[in-house]
Amino acid sequence: FHIHPVDTQVDNSSAIHRLPECIVIGVRKGGTRALLDMINLHSQVKIAKAEVHFFDIETNFHLGLEWYKSQMPKTMPGELAIEKSPSYFVTESVPQRIFAMNPQILLLLVLRDPVTRLISDYTQIMYNHLERGRTFKSFEELVFFPNKSVNTGYEAVAKSIYVQYIHRWMHFFPKNQIHIVNGDRLIHQPWHELRKVEQFLGLPLQIEKNDFFFNSTKGFHCLKKKTSSNPELHCLTKSKGRAHPNITDETKTRLRKFYAQFNYDLYNVVDRDFGWPE
Ligand code: A3P
Repeated sequence: FHIHPVDTQVDNSSAIHRLPECIVIGVRKGGTRALLDMINLHSQVKIAKAEVHFFDIETNFHLGLEWYKSQMPKTMPGELAIEKSPSYFVTESVPQRIFAMNPQILLLLVLRDPVTRLISDYTQIMYNHLERGRTFKSFEELVFFPNKSVNTGYEAVAKSIYVQYIHRWMHFFPKNQIHIVNGDRLIHQPWHELRKVEQFLGLPLQIEKNDFFFNSTKGFHCLKKKTSSNPELHCLTKSKGRAHPNITDETKTRLRKFYAQFNYDLYNVVDRDFGWPE
């Protein structure tokens, strides 16, 4: 006569930690937090609150899939768990690792004009330095060599050459498993981008224009969360949508020229023209 240990997962109507069925893989400063918070408006989506960085940070990866699962929000059957870790997109080992976990996984990638992304990336690093009381080099000093050619060794420059990373993902995943969100449109008309995301995830269409309100002080759309009877208003933290330093038109033009060919290559690879300014 054996007494079986109680299996806490027998009742599949209760919420448990499950591996994600969708991951927001990047790109850093593309609008990944906005996307994740916005898709969380959907009643069948649950999000990991913090960035998990399981596949890109070795010490996390070595904790194994059970640890990863424990970082996920609890979901009921029919609900999707989603996490975002923006550096997945640019980290070489990650596509293969995600494929090994689940070759059917759905991937979301937010891309925006590479020059704006670069300036946004620089702005974040600059604020991090200034907050620690450190000085920081000017944008031009970091982005250009003294002879004015573009310094691709500067990480923030390289991260905007999207085509060099997308190849790695497409080596493992078919195009229909990678949905690219237009990060520029996500700012101005998030409901359009969210509709496409719902379709990609096979979710009933729920998120509408009325779920957003434009906050003119912040200059961005904020969200009406449907958690309580009175919708709770939620804007992203002040580190999202910060003023960028003034970058001259000459600098922007030089950078646009630099990225133009990489952008064309990307449009060809993903069969989509983002129309980023040249
Ligand atoms: P800036 O702060 O440079 O404007 P990430 O979350 O991937 O770090 O991306 C941050 C970027 O998200 C912000 O960059 C901002 O432009 C963009 N964003 C998109 N929608 C937003 C929103 N509704 N509120 C705030 N920022 C938003």
